[in-house]
Amino acid sequence: MIPVPKSLVSLSAFSAFSAVLATQPSAPDPIPAPLRDLKWGQLNFLHTTDTHGWLAGHLQEPSYSADWGDYVSFATRMREIAEAHGRDLLVIDTGDRVEGNGLYDSSEPKGTYTSQILRQQHIDVMSSGNHELYKKTTSEAEFLSTVPSFHGHYLASNIDIFHPTTGELVPLAARFKKFITQNQGARIVAFGFLFDFTMNCNNTVVQPVEETIKERWFQEVVLDKDVDLFLVVGHVPVHSREYDSIFKAIRAIHPETPIQFFGGHYHIRDCARFDSNAYGLASGRFMETIGFMSIDGLSLGDRKSRSAGLVFNRRYIDNNLFSFHHHTGLNETTFPTERGRNVSRLIRESRTALQLDEIYGCVPRTLWVSRVPHSSEDSIYTWLHQKVLPDVLKDKSRSGKPALAIVNTGAIRFDLFKGEFTRDSAYIVSPFTSGFRYLKDVPYDKAALVLEILNKQPKILAPSLDGAPPSPWSLAAPEQAAYRHGVGNSDDARRGGPTRNMPNNQNPMFSNAYPQLEVVPGYTTIDDLGADGDDTLHSPVDFYQVPNCIDSLILGNESAAPETVDLVYVDFIEPYITLAARYARLSVDVPRESDIYMPSTSLTDLIVQWVKDNWSCMVQP
Ligand SMILES: *[C@@H]1O[C@H](CO)[C@@H](O)[C@H](O)[C@H]1NC(C)=O
Ligand SMILES: *[C@@H]1O[C@H](CO)[C@@H](O)[C@H](O)[C@H]1NC(C)=O
Ligand SMILES: *[C@@H]1O[C@H](CO)[C@@H](O)[C@H](O)[C@H]1NC(C)=O
Ligand SMILES: *[C@@H]1O[C@H](CO)[C@@H](O)[C@H](O)[C@H]1NC(C)=O
Ligand SMILES: *[C@@H]1O[C@H](CO)[C@@H](O)[C@H](O)[C@H]1NC(C)=O
Repeated sequence: MIPVPKSLVSLSAFSAFSAVLATQPSAPDPIPAPLRDLKWGQLNFLHTTDTHGWLAGHLQEPSYSADWGDYVSFATRMREIAEAHGRDLLVIDTGDRVEGNGLYDSSEPKGTYTSQILRQQHIDVMSSGNHELYKKTTSEAEFLSTVPSFHGHYLASNIDIFHPTTGELVPLAARFKKFITQNQGARIVAFGFLFDFTMNCNNTVVQPVEETIKERWFQEVVLDKDVDLFLVVGHVPVHSREYDSIFKAIRAIHPETPIQFFGGHYHIRDCARFDSNAYGLASGRFMETIGFMSIDGLSLGDRKSRSAGLVFNRRYIDNNLFSFHHHTGLNETTFPTERGRNVSRLIRESRTALQLDEIYGCVPRTLWVSRVPHSSEDSIYTWLHQKVLPDVLKDKSRSGKPALAIVNTGAIRFDLFKGEFTRDSAYIVSPFTSGFRYLKDVPYDKAALVLEILNKQPKILAPSLDGAPPSPWSLAAPEQAAYRHGVGNSDDARRGGPTRNMPNNQNPMFSNAYPQLEVVPGYTTIDDLGADGDDTLHSPVDFYQVPNCIDSLILGNESAAPETVDLVYVDFIEPYITLAARYARLSVDVPRESDIYMPSTSLTDLIVQWVKDNWSCMVQP
């Protein structure tokens, strides 16, 4: 076996660094920060997940300010490095590419621009997320456009779709594939899974993972003896029942064959160790993170002498050009590829066409989703509770009637940064198109009880009743689900919590490029492999749990606590309201007796209305 240098990139010329400019015109330039190097292996992977349309990168956060074009250049340069040393590089994406950013959500139909942009990246293996399946139009666009764009690379081991024209039930994409890597000749069998998702529109069928692995086709594929690596990609948390059962199914036949999992859904940086030959990587969310994984010590093909053992390494790369330049040993002039530049231009032009920079108002101070307690003045939920909902949630036909509004916290997806509130910000904060529904004249104490039940521990709303929705954690953001499931030892800035964060200065393991540079707040991940996963050294950020739902009491004409209220809720959560109403012994047939509140108005519309009314950018004289 060839000894593997820590880094294949010569960084000797890199004792000094120069300023790096972001590619998108309104994005902030990355802040130089101390970095840990990549450790290359025979097989190397780049991984994205839960990008949710953020292909322009983060225009208000320097740490994540690279765009999809920069990532195209990065993958190309990384592939060049791999090839120069006879190694392989594979690019992976594990779904939830849609919903969550103006670039995806604001076009008609949705995704027209992102599908053009996304396909510019060469992706070797990819899968669908749950967000691709909520709406019929989304899964059909996936089937008719994304799957063909990535033909031979898109896998759907447990998803079928009713064909949009023939109506026949067919696999969304190929169930699996077998391929041989170009340089190392590694024989890989790959699958593409989705977790046991049940809230998809009825034009798709998601087979529970535990059933798929009993299918004959799966059993036959796993029986293959000529496999150097099983590659399981999927929109599945790496610490999960689903991945555990796939691991066991493969191990039942192959006691030692390496298995590499890639996953997502919880929006966290995480690495799971299944055994010494099997690991799983999750690479965050929203184009904040490019996951890097390497495997070394593989005995390939006929070279069956097992060497010193397998070595798995992982890095969570902050998505910015400072990191990209460092890891490729290139600079502003030498790093970008023509294709990457073209993609960045396409993103710029798409954002212009969609008028995403149109300003609706100016945010006076940053409001956080989970970096402060949800009752704090700086919480976005306090703002909704105290200001937005009372001011603008009003149905004409119910004029003056008091209302108790219930909004699931997962309806809010991202922080609201001080500065301009643009059309893009509206989609980023709340991309969902759900409207509101309500139940008339509900006794106030029953309405309050419904809220209380929705916020109780999961067992209360366990899916024990027929047709019950899945765990109420899906009411909160996915990050919260990870926290509550107590996933592994994994940790990160957004979910570690004040008691779980480990200051970087206690971490002895970093190798240090630019140790003289200042450390800025960001992800400080602890996973099954330790505390040295993040490429960028950060100071920790606090994280707080939020409830499943928040409320707002809107008093109408009355000034004291009312006897009855309109119980108003986001229509997405109606199945949960139905269940909670039953527990609260509220004798109503919710789906039948509820009605639309504020027709054709979404939470996003209310937020935009309020911002326009109250946060003018005009400087007061
Ligand atoms: C899906 O549901 C709709 C309405 O709820 C129904 O009309 C349609 O037949 C269902 N489709 C399938 C494939 O079950
Ligand atoms: C980038 O690297 C090239 C090759 O090493 C060098 O000639 C050039 O001066 C560098 N440019 C900048 C802006 O540092
Ligand atoms: C980049 O865009 C230019 C202008 O549209 C085009 O001529 C060129 O072929 C593109 N290059 C690549 C690699 O896509
Ligand atoms: C509330 O006040 C408005 C305006 O004063 C009035 O039109 C409406 O009838 C009142 N509603 C109730 C329920 O008292
Ligand atoms: C927001 O603006 C509306 C309309 O001008 C006004 O009625 C309301 O009081 C304002 N809300 C706050 C909290 O300032």
